[in-house]
Order: sequence, then structure tokens, then C-alpha cells
Amino acid sequence: MAWKTLDQMDFAGKRVLTRVDINVPLEDGRVTDATRIERIVPTIRDILDKGGKPILLAHFGRPKGQRVDDMSLAPLVPALEEAFGTKVVFVADCRGPAAKAASDALADGQVLLCENTRFHAGEEKNDPALAAEMAELGDVYVNDAFSAAHRAHASTEGVAHHLPSCAGRLMEAELSALEAALGDPKRPVAAVVGGAKVSTKLELLSNLISRVDILIIGGGMANTFLAAQGIDVGKSLCEHDMADTAREIAEKAASGGCEILLPRDVVVAREFKAGAPSETVKAENCPPDAMILDAGPDSVAHVKEVLDRAKTLIWNGPLGAFEIAPFDAATNAAADYAAELTAAGDLVSVAGGGDTVAALNKAGAAERFSYISTAGGAFLEWMEGKTLPGVAALE
Ligand code: 3PG
Ligand code: MG
Repeated sequence: MAWKTLDQMDFAGKRVLTRVDINVPLEDGRVTDATRIERIVPTIRDILDKGGKPILLAHFGRPKGQRVDDMSLAPLVPALEEAFGTKVVFVADCRGPAAKAASDALADGQVLLCENTRFHAGEEKNDPALAAEMAELGDVYVNDAFSAAHRAHASTEGVAHHLPSCAGRLMEAELSALEAALGDPKRPVAAVVGGAKVSTKLELLSNLISRVDILIIGGGMANTFLAAQGIDVGKSLCEHDMADTAREIAEKAASGGCEILLPRDVVVAREFKAGAPSETVKAENCPPDAMILDAGPDSVAHVKEVLDRAKTLIWNGPLGAFEIAPFDAATNAAADYAAELTAAGDLVSVAGGGDTVAALNKAGAAERFSYISTAGGAFLEWMEGKTLPGVAALE
């Protein structure tokens, strides 16, 4: 790896400016999913144990350069204190005299949380002046926010140029897991790519066909691929204007030796509603007045066959309309099977993306996967083969 880890840094008596991603769901002032908070605990504990003083920089929501009360980080203090097992002091800015005074005054063993970096317009512009002011709060910089590393912002990128920098434990874990899945993986590698639209995942599909051995396409985007083969998909979600693109991807995959798996049978219904009456038909037999909402049992059997052969699996996106039963069946069955193979030591499985993690949690499979990323956009961009500015800045 081209970047340092916590192991190579000296934190004793130092103010450790630490970029974290605690962009967690909040309802009525309470954290409803603390995963991102739990995942940064090893880094915070490590810094504290080495005598460092963690000064946390983070964004929350998208306040667009304005102070928006609803997007203050202050309500997160209790959840952070519980997770870290120590006092968390809050300061209402991430730059300037108050923040500087708070970082200088922080007692040993405590953590300082600075207010939402995105309250300053300079954050998203990666303003060098703001980055320099942030850098005054620390002696060294740790980036543990993989899930924000696709943003070249002052707190994720700019500040790294001012201080000795390294990756935190979560950043390290995320990058190692992704490297194991796409960098130098055990082959064959299978990828599940689902979701509504081909258009939003074009770069992803194009990159994956040259990197993986088997590409399993599910969700709405599978309909676009079916339609591109001349199959009538009735009222299904489908981007007919992407037919040429879908055909090109399929051709490139075939010539490059990447096998593409499309549903063989599908579950169709007349309305998009939980419990809507449904039937299973061959993929080419979708009734004109029906829509495809899930892959069928034959398709799932086919996916299982492929997973039996695969040594590595990377998963982004559900296979069907997983939010509404019974159209979560294919996603649940495939996820459970991948989890079983992983638990048996036969598969390395990595998954990421907001919807994906929700789907795998719903299927009860997430815990048995080798690695579940905390990232949405950053996971996708990494899978697309892009350089993440927040990671590059550590090199
Ligand atoms: C996320 O929640 O995906 C990250 O925190 C990044 O947030 P953003 O998409 O608003 O940059
Ligand atoms: Mg996002």
C-alpha cells in the first residue's frame, strides 16, 4: 500500500485531526443505524491508546455551505460517547479561534467533535484556505472516511497536504477488502450488479466486464438487457433508449471472456405493490400488461450454480424489487446462498452500496459476508476503477 497506517505514526501528546464519516440516519434526534459510528471505534481507541487526542472532522447531510440547524453534528455526541466509552467535547465550528482553542484545550483521553464541515462553502470547493485553517487544529491527519473519499473536499483531500497523514483502520479495512475482491482476487470472480437503471451504472458495467469472469445482472437493468435482445418486457421498468449500449456491453463481455447472466425466468405482477398477485414466467414470456419485479426460481438456481464455481463475489444492487415482498425472494435466496458459501470458507464475498446493504441485512445475510462496506458512492466509484481523491491524497 502506498499510504501509511496508524501503526507507522507517533501520536503521543499530539492532536490527531481525524476525518470520519458519521453521516448516519437520525430520527427525532436519535441515531437509527449506528454502523458507521461503530466502524470508526477501532481508530479512535487506537489513537487514544497511543496518547493522541482525536479531533474529529465530519460532514452531515448536504447543507450546501450554509449553517443549517437540522444538520448540526451536536445530536450525535451521546451516540459517540457511548461507542468510544469516553467524553466527547463538541465545538460549533471546524475552523477558526473557537475550534483552535478547543483543540488546544482538549484533555487527555477525550475526543473533540467539530461542527459539520459542510457549513462552510469552502469544504466542497476544496478551498485551500479552509484546508489550511482545518490543518491548524491538528499535528497529524488521519483519514478514516472511505465512504467520503470519492469527494475531493477540504476535509478529505486538501487538509492531507498540510500534515503528516495516514489511513485509519476502517479506511484500511475497506481498501483491503476491495483489493481482495477486484485488485488481485481468487478467480473465478463473479459480480452481482442490480438496481433500476443501466444509465447510472454504465461505467461500472464497462469496468466490471474487463475485471470479472461472470457478471450477474439483476433488477430493473436486467430488463433493459432483455429488451435489447428483442424480448418484450411488457410494462417493466426498462430504458429502451439504452438498448444499443446494453448490446455493446454484452458484445464486449462475450469477446473478453466475461459471462453475462440474465434472468431465465421472472416473477411478474400487474401492480408495484407488496403482496400484489404474481406469476412466474419464462423471461421471454412477460405478458404485455405485466411488469417484471423479480428473478424467478430457475434464475436463482442458475445464480447458485455460478456461485458454486466462483471464488470471489462482489455485490452491488438487489436482484428484484426487494423492498416489497414477495419480490425480495431472489435477492434473499441468492444472498443467503452466498453467505452460506462464505461461512463454509468457499467464497470471499464483498458488498457495498446503500440499497445493497439494506437488502443483505433484510435477507439476514450481511453478517456472514466477508466484508460489508460502509460506503455507497465511494464503493461504486472504486468498482468503476476510479481514483478516489481522499485515498490518493494519503499517498
Ligand atoms: C454518504 O453518505 O454516502 C457519504 O457520507 C457521502 O455523502 P455525500 O454523498 O453527501 O457526499
Ligand atoms: Mg451518497
